[in-house]
Amino acid sequence: MAGHLTAGPELLDYVRDMSLKDDEILKDLRNETAGMPVLQAMLVMPEEAQFLALLVRMTGASSVIEVGTFTGYSSLCMARALPANGRVVTCDISERWTRIATRYWQRAGVADRIDLRLGDAAQTLPQLLSEHGPGSFDLAFVDADKANYRRYYEDVLALLRPGGSVVLDNTLFFGRVVDPTAQDPDTDAIREINRLLRDDDRVDISMLAVADGITIARKKT
Ligand SMILES: C[S@@+](CC[C@H](N)C(=O)[O-])C[C@H]1O[C@@H](n2cnc3c(N)ncnc32)[C@H](O)[C@@H]1O
Repeated sequence: MAGHLTAGPELLDYVRDMSLKDDEILKDLRNETAGMPVLQAMLVMPEEAQFLALLVRMTGASSVIEVGTFTGYSSLCMARALPANGRVVTCDISERWTRIATRYWQRAGVADRIDLRLGDAAQTLPQLLSEHGPGSFDLAFVDADKANYRRYYEDVLALLRPGGSVVLDNTLFFGRVVDPTAQDPDTDAIREINRLLRDDDRVDISMLAVADGITIARKKT
């Protein structure tokens, strides 16, 4: 079995150089977000956002739910990949970050495909369930507060149609999942959701050691 590559900065630059389908709008959004240094770490990695867009196209998804909008990078990439009648419903608690997101969605001409719900996802997701009913979404991306991942996973699973998939971000959590000294609630919550996903017969999964760890769970038909 081949060993696992550690992607240092040079290799990551190469991956980006060889694969990113970049443009001025995405570059400007990354730069504007990077200008807020403490928050830059929250921004989804560009190759991951491109992967999400590819997933949208590969699965033919037309309805996507996102938990954790931030400055709108992943929602913008997914919205661009949707068919004309498709929609992304994305939720966040921050008016400040999502104002930036809205500006870029408008510039990219996809604002009409994105339905932003401001408020706690713990309330928004059950609300979406009563609005749209169970099984009404094709794809989900969970990238918000780690302590609530388990709750978001259950809510999103109910919203997904059989055969739909949820992508969970940060499932390796900067490597802290294997650090015995990391005993904080966020790391524990990630360890808990990882165990749950492994043992959950309702889904097929793949855990990918890319970016900060991405787990894809497909709801069984
Ligand atoms: C890692 S960022 C999301 C990154 C984003 N997907 C992107 O494309 O860059 C996490 C976001 O989750 C939001 N968030 C935190 N707690 C939340 C909650 N209870 N409900 C909804 N959003 C929440 C934060 O405000 C933040 O914008």
